[in-house]
Amino acid sequence: MIIYFSGTGNSRAVATALAALTSDRVFPLTELPPADASWHGERLILVCPVYSWGIPPLVLDYVGRLSAPFIGEARRHRVWVVLTCGDETGRAPEMMEKALAGRGVTLSGIWDVQMPNNYVLLPGFDVDPLDVERKKLSRYPSRVEEIARCILEGRECRDYTAGSWPGVKTRMVYPLFRRMGIVPSRWKASEACVGCGRCRDVCPMGNVTLDAGRMPVWGGRCVSCLACYHVCPRNAVAYGKATRGKGQYFYPQPHGAEKRR
Ligand SMILES: Cc1cc2nc3c(=O)[nH]c(=O)nc-3n(C[C@H](O)[C@H](O)[C@H](O)COP(=O)(O)O)c2cc1C
Ligand code: SF4
Ligand code: SF4
Repeated sequence: MIIYFSGTGNSRAVATALAALTSDRVFPLTELPPADASWHGERLILVCPVYSWGIPPLVLDYVGRLSAPFIGEARRHRVWVVLTCGDETGRAPEMMEKALAGRGVTLSGIWDVQMPNNYVLLPGFDVDPLDVERKKLSRYPSRVEEIARCILEGRECRDYTAGSWPGVKTRMVYPLFRRMGIVPSRWKASEACVGCGRCRDVCPMGNVTLDAGRMPVWGGRCVSCLACYHVCPRNAVAYGKATRGKGQYFYPQPHGAEKRR
């Protein structure tokens, strides 16, 4: 069984590509509440992005709240994790391993898959140049094949790019991201909005609604996945001034590279 969390589609793409090779069933984490999650399979594979050199708080919380029967099953079978990231994981793999160990679950393997970067909320951070984006998209299927082979052969493996100063980034920056990186009230739509509703439809948290004039309104459940920003065909979604002049990315690209920059 594969459970994934995805904002802009990278982790969903990796999860479905993996499922095609391992024949596992695939479920989005947000549609499988942890208390109701049940499973009687041979293995569990979790797929999610790296956020600020750590694991998305939503995913950590999910692992912490998985039901006792689910965890009992996980203790009896193999558990694998695949993290998608733009460039580097920091100590996110260790964070995930610790969260699972806290539930008595042993990790058999963990990998990263480098995918197009979607983080744009800080100065100096933007989507990848198109050539880098294309290179990552052309390479990820062979990486997924490599991971699937390992899983099917039951080989223990830890293979990821932690990057420079991983301990410092995870210890110092990740807690700041948790405290200050997500301010839902900063999301607004500009006058370029045409009320198409894509930002509402794509939000994995159901955090965006349209008002009577079809203008999007953001609630307080944002997990900073950036899907609403990247999916907008008019680039009308803004996070304060942070998104000014930034590019967009979504997998699969819904409206073409030319319009996104
Ligand atoms: C809040 C946030 C923080 C991120 N932090 C990192 C990071 O620390 N390292 C990295 O390589 N990529 C980082 N990224 C990029 C994503 O991990 C990457 O684009 C991922 O594949 C997105 O997955 P998704 O499309 O399934 O949401 C971050 C993205 C977001 C939204
Ligand atoms: S996706 Fe963009 S254009 Fe469509 S409703 Fe949302 S903000 Fe408006
Ligand atoms: S409102 Fe937050 S959780 Fe929903 S799509 Fe936008 S960034 Fe993601």
